[in-house]
Amino acid sequence: MNKYNVVVVGATGLVGSTLIEVLEERDFPLNQLLPLASSRSVGKEIKAFGRSYAVEELTTDAFTDNYDFAFFCAGGEISKQYAPLSVQKGIISIDNTSYFRNDDNVPLIVPEVNFEQVHSTDRLISNPNCSTIQCMPPLKVLADLYGIESINYATYQACSGAGIDGLNDLLNDTTFCFDYKIRESVLPRIDVFLDNGYSKEEAKMINETAKILKLPGVPISATCVRVPITTGHSVAVTVELKREPDIDQVRRSMSAVEGLSVVDDIKNNIYPIAESVRGKDIIEVGRLRKDLFRANVIHFWTVADNLRKGAATNAIQIAEKFIAKYPESIS
Ligand SMILES: NC(=O)c1ccc[n+]([C@@H]2O[C@H](COP(=O)([O-])OP(=O)(O)OC[C@H]3O[C@@H](n4cnc5c(N)ncnc54)[C@H](OP(=O)(O)O)[C@@H]3O)[C@@H](O)[C@H]2O)c1
Repeated sequence: MNKYNVVVVGATGLVGSTLIEVLEERDFPLNQLLPLASSRSVGKEIKAFGRSYAVEELTTDAFTDNYDFAFFCAGGEISKQYAPLSVQKGIISIDNTSYFRNDDNVPLIVPEVNFEQVHSTDRLISNPNCSTIQCMPPLKVLADLYGIESINYATYQACSGAGIDGLNDLLNDTTFCFDYKIRESVLPRIDVFLDNGYSKEEAKMINETAKILKLPGVPISATCVRVPITTGHSVAVTVELKREPDIDQVRRSMSAVEGLSVVDDIKNNIYPIAESVRGKDIIEVGRLRKDLFRANVIHFWTVADNLRKGAATNAIQIAEKFIAKYPESIS
């Protein structure tokens, strides 16, 4: 079996460190690992794959044609500057930031939903926003079965979604990252507000959903809210369909999707909660029900670990599928 040389940009952050853990857990065919971060982290030790790696500083000459995959987990401005350098060297570059997600030339991928949009020559692939990722597999089922007329999201997003600073605000009761103390609140602002009244996080969910599910012009709305839990995002989704859904058929079809688990036994008070997916790679779906007034409308609730399926695991699954489908085109 071939083994691959991997760069992780932002290796000391929440997503980057989770990514290295998940690479090891999934037995990724790794040859060399190069963990990169800012100058603040140079020399920090990362233990993985039975050995210790020293973090190096991200510089413009970090990317050489010796590497096969690069995972970018250090923010949009870093991806903007460094991902093109990685691509130039022929490295398959998987970006966790939002920087390239709306670029028509960059595929935006949830592997179990739209991997067919990746070509052997692609060298830059975007990983969607964490809340978007967990909604895509269930929505793809509904799109295939009944067609989608409109979508409305309400999110309940964990503090680790805002990186180390967000997590620390929750743990230390500070306001370095959030506008208000979050311990006793839920905050309806994630990322900056835009002129149209939406937040940038809400815009990401809207634009990314349309791109991944190929729903141009379909009305989509979102309200994104930060909640005082460490890890695990929850999303309430309302979907208007072209035809009346059969809930049993929806349950059966969702249960058949790789990585999607239907947890929906309300008689016994069993439904998805963020805590039950923390540290796991699955997406759970439950509270499936038809709208009381509109026959074509269905509601559901979904949870996933934002650092894993919402970021690191999804990125690694993209690399794994690339290896399986296009082994010859990896240098
Ligand atoms: N957290 C989530 O749930 C989630 C989910 C999906 C996508 N994302 C995206 O993933 C990216 C990383 O998020 P995160 O939550 O892991 O953030 P984080 O915990 O704050 O980590 C940021 C990482 O970026 C590195 N970094 C910052 N400035 C740098 C520089 N000038 N040069 C090199 N490295 C630099 C940091 O290195 P130092 O330790 O040296 O400062 C650290 O490794 C963001 O774009 C975020 O939007 C996050």
